[in-house]
Amino acid sequence: MTGSVGAPAERREGREKVGGTARYAAEFHDPGRAQAWPVSARVARGRVTGVDTADALAVPGVLAVLSHENAPRLAEPDDPTLAVLQNPRVPHRGWFVALVVAETLEAARAGAAAVRVTYDAEAHDVVLTASHPGVYVPEEASGGQPAVREQGDPDGAFGSSAARVDVAYRVPPLHNHPMEPHTSTARWEDGRLLVHTSSQGTGAVRVVLAKLFDLPEERIVVTAEHVGGGFGSKGTPRPDVVLAAMAARETGRPVTVALPRRCLPAVAGHRAPTLHRLRLGADEDGRLTALVHEVTTHTSRIKEYVEHAAVPARVMYAAPHRRTVHRVAALDVPSPSWMRAPGQAPGMYALESAMDELAGELGMDPIELRVRNEPDVEPDSGKPFSSRHLIDCLREGSRRFGWDGRDPRPGTRRDGPLLLGTGVAAATYPVMVSPSTAAARALRDGTFLVRTNATDIGTGARTVLAQVGADALGVPLERVRIEVGSTELPSAPLAGDSSGTASWGWAVHDACDRLARRLAEHTGPLPEEGLDARADTKGVADAESDFARHAFGAHFAEVAVDTVTGEVRVGRLLGVYAAGRILNARTARSQFVGGMTMGLGMALTEGSTMDAAFGDFTESDLASYHVPVHADIAEIEAHWLDEEDSRLNPMGSKGIGEIGIVGTPAAIGNAVHHATGVRLRELPLTPDRVL
Ligand code: MOS
Repeated sequence: MTGSVGAPAERREGREKVGGTARYAAEFHDPGRAQAWPVSARVARGRVTGVDTADALAVPGVLAVLSHENAPRLAEPDDPTLAVLQNPRVPHRGWFVALVVAETLEAARAGAAAVRVTYDAEAHDVVLTASHPGVYVPEEASGGQPAVREQGDPDGAFGSSAARVDVAYRVPPLHNHPMEPHTSTARWEDGRLLVHTSSQGTGAVRVVLAKLFDLPEERIVVTAEHVGGGFGSKGTPRPDVVLAAMAARETGRPVTVALPRRCLPAVAGHRAPTLHRLRLGADEDGRLTALVHEVTTHTSRIKEYVEHAAVPARVMYAAPHRRTVHRVAALDVPSPSWMRAPGQAPGMYALESAMDELAGELGMDPIELRVRNEPDVEPDSGKPFSSRHLIDCLREGSRRFGWDGRDPRPGTRRDGPLLLGTGVAAATYPVMVSPSTAAARALRDGTFLVRTNATDIGTGARTVLAQVGADALGVPLERVRIEVGSTELPSAPLAGDSSGTASWGWAVHDACDRLARRLAEHTGPLPEEGLDARADTKGVADAESDFARHAFGAHFAEVAVDTVTGEVRVGRLLGVYAAGRILNARTARSQFVGGMTMGLGMALTEGSTMDAAFGDFTESDLASYHVPVHADIAEIEAHWLDEEDSRLNPMGSKGIGEIGIVGTPAAIGNAVHHATGVRLRELPLTPDRVL
């Protein structure tokens, strides 16, 4: 080891990004490149009865108008949201019904406005309630999690508990809204399809395109050199890439499809709304006897996605009698999908708020309540934890935050018109890892080239992988070059599930380790082409573990609630994490702080409103969907424990990309309760709700 891992190494692509030379998917100006603009359905349910393209085709510069009437027929995709322009059915408002291709973006946009689409509209049903007649228990929740788990007699145990909390929470639909919209540039060349796309994983994009366009994968190249965020919404291919490939084939030109921001809420996924009912029963000492978490959510008519929000309740606390249930209703809404910490973020908001309410019932410190319910093994599976350290995070956070001596009585700290309060919540996120491949080459000039199809979605993946490679090779970081972001490279899984670094890093580690050993055996000068080693972690990274593997954390928040305006300001936000070995102190901090910032948005400002009459989300851009801005963030700190865990991967790392969002909303909500004495159970905590 040369000590690269753990160091706060600077992002390798930072200069390119700041200087504007890093190219994103819309910035490949191939000669003759055309632009496209989609046409979105204006009914929430029904059929297209006609597409009049005459006016659009008359707009100067318009090259083609594609609709289900003339678009190329594609093979049926596994993901129904990608079957664009294939039939006249409209499953939700905002579904694409046409695409205008033109010489310029302006002409494409003008053309799209001139397309006349007529519909047969049908009555729609878009409002989720826990008692919606369409609610059913699915086979499984997202992530392949069982929809229902039950142990013991939770109803009986709850009924006879000394202390009880029976509460309902609601988390609204949330949208990922990455800074760079979903964008693809495609061109066809000698029967090959070449695509630049904004995706969390180009390998999956290539698989989908091969199927849809009936091409062997070898004839498709997909690259994603730089990606302006995804937060889960680019974890699966989106309509932009299908439309770009189709339009390029139809026009014989390279075509860029950069989805307009206002199209995204309907076609790029969202975190489905979750209605939670939590029942916690405890004895006088605060030991949980019963834990029941039931979640109701929605999905679309065309795709079942069930936000797995009751899953963290299977991991967190010891309770002999327990039940976790997911229910779903298929409505005429856009298809929900992955969003940062899927399941965990809304689930832990509800669970950690309910734990705070239980602490209040018991007159017990909320940290002490969690200490008393620390399980010996993972409650649901009975597996031992590979490492946990939640209590250490709570204690370290308590020390740093100055929790001791806190007056637990709500509504007692006042500063003029402001009510002040503090809150705490736990966080967890599962350790995920997938098989990956990587190649490493030693060159004659003493440098090394490491190649793997990782995707850097803004996390600093290049930098961290170079650090892992340098240490495995036993050479300084500067001597390791890295290539990521193309299907031409050794195959690798997506940047998602907080699993990218662990998955790619494992393969990079193994390839570099193998190369180091080969070099040690080698005598004399290297051959002209250098020396190569490859690694494939299939069968290793995907091996079933005998251990429950999760990252844990503790979030602390201090808020000021304005009794005149109803505004909640977060003065301090602190996170302490136990996430295995931290591979780069700088990029890791950035990930944690980014997650916490997104959690602050979830707590205070973010939310999409389903308009019952219109059948669509009301918020469609960043002027109406409020993500936190710098002025919303005061003091925000992320710390971590040095956690050693040999049961993860050769680096000893856990995922860090998502856990920051997990406990933050509950910590803020609990602080608002502490400040005001009022328990608000519906996010976001906007002034209209607070007053
Ligand atoms: Mo994350 S929602 O797995 O990109």
